[in-house]
Amino acid sequence: MKRGLLVLIVLISVTAVAGVRNYVRRDTVMYVAGNEVAFIRFGAVYENGAVKSWVKKGEPTLYASPSEEIVNGRIMDYSSFSPTGEVRNGFIRVAVYGTIKKADLSSTFQDATMQYEDLYYEKCGSCHRAVSLGRYSKRQWYGILTSMQSHAGLSPHEIDSLYRYIILNKE
Ligand code: HEC
Repeated sequence: MKRGLLVLIVLISVTAVAGVRNYVRRDTVMYVAGNEVAFIRFGAVYENGAVKSWVKKGEPTLYASPSEEIVNGRIMDYSSFSPTGEVRNGFIRVAVYGTIKKADLSSTFQDATMQYEDLYYEKCGSCHRAVSLGRYSKRQWYGILTSMQSHAGLSPHEIDSLYRYIILNKE
């Protein structure tokens, strides 16, 4: 057997065992046996075949932390959903199992969110220099984006993506 091929096979089995951490690079859908089980937003962590999130009892929204600040997505089918036993702040920690297309995953957060960083510099750096994210609080950023919306000719979807990019990076 060619040496390169052998190394590749070893590498693939190692990653399968270690369960590498990946980041979702665009809003996408998670599948189990061809069925859509959850909608997952960019920047969410995907590890060992699951997106771990926090939910409030009886609600489909997936949060990145036990607060309502960052939304990871939404459950579409509860059969893919398994509580981890952790409860905090009235939020329950769950693992949502399913597959995400390889093309929609990156091994680093920075790579996963690169296209939104580009969007930020493109849309918000044309008239003045792009303002550093640390200059304002998350709350202030929301107001800034809304007030710059017409200046920058942004769609509501772009505003939403930029806001998400900013708060994920300010975590
Ligand atoms: C078409 C030109 C234009 C674009 C595009 C634009 N801005 Fe501005 N921006 C301005 C002008 C003009 C001001 C100063 C006057 C004002 O506040 O309206 C400003 C001021 C600001 C300020 C306050 C001053 C500071 O430096 O802290 C922030 C923050 C800001 N912009 C962020 C953004 C963001 C974020 C985007 C992208 C969504 C953006 N801008 C896109 C023209 C633009």
